[in-house]
Amino acid sequence: MASSPSVSPFLKTALAAAALAVAFLSPATLAAEKETHLHLFTHERQIPPNRTVVTSVSIPTSPHRFGAGFGSILLFDNLLAAGSDPASRHLGRSQGLVAFTSLNGEDILIVNTLVFKEPGPFAGSSITLLARNPLAEKVRELPVVAGTGKFRLARGYALQRSYYSNATSGVNIFEFDLFLLHH
Ligand SMILES: *[C@@H]1O[C@H](CO)[C@@H](O)[C@H](O)[C@H]1NC(C)=O
Ligand SMILES: *[C@@H]1O[C@H](CO)[C@@H](O)[C@H](O)[C@H]1NC(C)=O
Repeated sequence: MASSPSVSPFLKTALAAAALAVAFLSPATLAAEKETHLHLFTHERQIPPNRTVVTSVSIPTSPHRFGAGFGSILLFDNLLAAGSDPASRHLGRSQGLVAFTSLNGEDILIVNTLVFKEPGPFAGSSITLLARNPLAEKVRELPVVAGTGKFRLARGYALQRSYYSNATSGVNIFEFDLFLLHH
């Protein structure tokens, strides 16, 4: 005998609770969508003292074209600044993780949050990039997947260039052009 589909009382209660939670969490209104272009630099120091990047997993047997092989993992907490000079206006930090995800040692997966910590129009806000980053390319296009504060619901893309690199001092400076849509 066919019975009509029924919803258990437990499921009904759970669904009602979920609907209520959504109603309470949704902001009443969302600001109009804005377009923002940012030009920023991040400063990395690979060598102590005050190194800003550490290797947490090192795989010694792969090609190491960019300093680490397939399977290696690095964590970083770099300076985020307005200019390529480390003495330029400090904006915050560029924090995240790099995983070497290609057999030839040339491509990485990057999870990178740009955190605006210093006083300024974006103080307390952040932008998150999640991307395959092909290091051999001069200009890398990286998707922006999220943001907080002034960059809520951010999406867009970043163009990243290696602006300066010095193996002796261990200093790397990256240039970012970010094109964002956000609320
Ligand atoms: C390392 O950081 C300390 C504390 O901020 C600073 O005094 C020192 O000059 C830094 N050293 C270098 C080589 O940047
Ligand atoms: C690289 O860093 C070393 C050590 O700090 C410095 O002597 C040298 O001038 C730098 N080279 C360039 C091209 O900036």
